[in-house]
Amino acid sequence: MITFDNVTKHYPGATTAVDGLSLEAPNNKLTVFVGPSGCGKTTSLRMINRLITPTSGSILLDGEPTERMDVALLRRRIGYVIQHAGLFPHRTVVQNIASTPRLNGVAKAKALTIAHETLERVGLNQSFAHRYPWQLSGGQQQRVGVARALASDPKFMLMDEPFSAVDPVVRAQLQDEFLRLQREIGKTIIMVTHDIDEALKLGDRVAVLRTGGKLAQIATPRELLARPADAFVADFVGRDRGFRFLSFAGFDASLPLRKEPTVALGTMPEAARQVALDRWVLVSDGAGRPFGWADLDAQSGPLREEDVNLSGTMAPRGGNLRHVLDAALSAPSGRGVVVDAEGGLLGTITLSEAAAAVESARGMGGEARS
Ligand SMILES: Nc1ncnc2c1ncn2[C@@H]1O[C@H](COP(=O)(O)OP(=O)(O)OP(=O)(O)O)[C@@H](O)[C@H]1O
Ligand SMILES: [Mg+2]
Repeated sequence: MITFDNVTKHYPGATTAVDGLSLEAPNNKLTVFVGPSGCGKTTSLRMINRLITPTSGSILLDGEPTERMDVALLRRRIGYVIQHAGLFPHRTVVQNIASTPRLNGVAKAKALTIAHETLERVGLNQSFAHRYPWQLSGGQQQRVGVARALASDPKFMLMDEPFSAVDPVVRAQLQDEFLRLQREIGKTIIMVTHDIDEALKLGDRVAVLRTGGKLAQIATPRELLARPADAFVADFVGRDRGFRFLSFAGFDASLPLRKEPTVALGTMPEAARQVALDRWVLVSDGAGRPFGWADLDAQSGPLREEDVNLSGTMAPRGGNLRHVLDAALSAPSGRGVVVDAEGGLLGTITLSEAAAAVESARGMGGEARS
């Protein structure tokens, strides 16, 4: 557990970066610090490994005040991932990763073995091992940064905007991979971000800080959305928080899916009309995976790939009601497609059925009403 006990940091020039911060980051959980630029997130993080000294108050690791610890030992207990990865430019990928076990006194050969293993854990294959940082994309560099922090198997990890320097698609991938990894390794992590979506997606608990370094609220993502403590938090978690809440409502067998016929490319419109529920017919690939809708009213010849409307999203089983609602909203037929993990068709659901599922989820949770 990482504990902030009434921690304050004044910088010279009268900036109060952090003001009386008290909170606990529980073991084996990911706690996110989120807040607007300049609200003291990085300062708070760097006080934990004593790159910055608090003006007053104390920080404890598993109940032990850090100010009494040897700084070098303290830092070895804590993995640290900084923004833009911060890799050593003149060292190869494996040398970068091996640097943390080396600091802990692991012999060189063993450290390199660990480095190669850790590389795979963050989703990079061995072809990257002997490249230099400048030969990697931003996302790959960030993976190496995470690997370097993980390689010494620290109990605690501090991560400062670890996924920020990449495009939204890569960012979502890195987040998903990291969530999977954290489920395995269960580190005690504090992660900083200014992105509320990232905070709600990754955090077991989320601490919202306001400018001036004051804690506005710390809660689970669900609680933050359902019961923001004040107008600042409500505004920060976003205007569409009612919609975001659906991300936490799973769906299961109880969802009323209808059987939806599908046709393959090459089907003639007359034949498609025989099976279609209305003018819209769902088109699937050779393996029975649906990929789009065809408008039979606009169809004269056999169905070609370019006739297929790809606008509808598909809700995966194991997903949440936000996926289901979006699938129904985006389908030109008005019927949202629900698929299994392999992309196989499970059935479709109309917008009003999806809305009913949302309504009943609200009834069960109760908290969605604000
Ligand atoms: N070395 C310093 N000297 C003086 N003021 C500083 C120093 N470092 C940070 N500050 C100020 O302290 C405040 C908090 O800075 P900090 O870097 O912790 O913010 P942050 O929440 O991480 O912001 P961002 O999201 O932009 O990274 C800011 O007002 C900043 O200008
Ligand atoms: Mg910062």
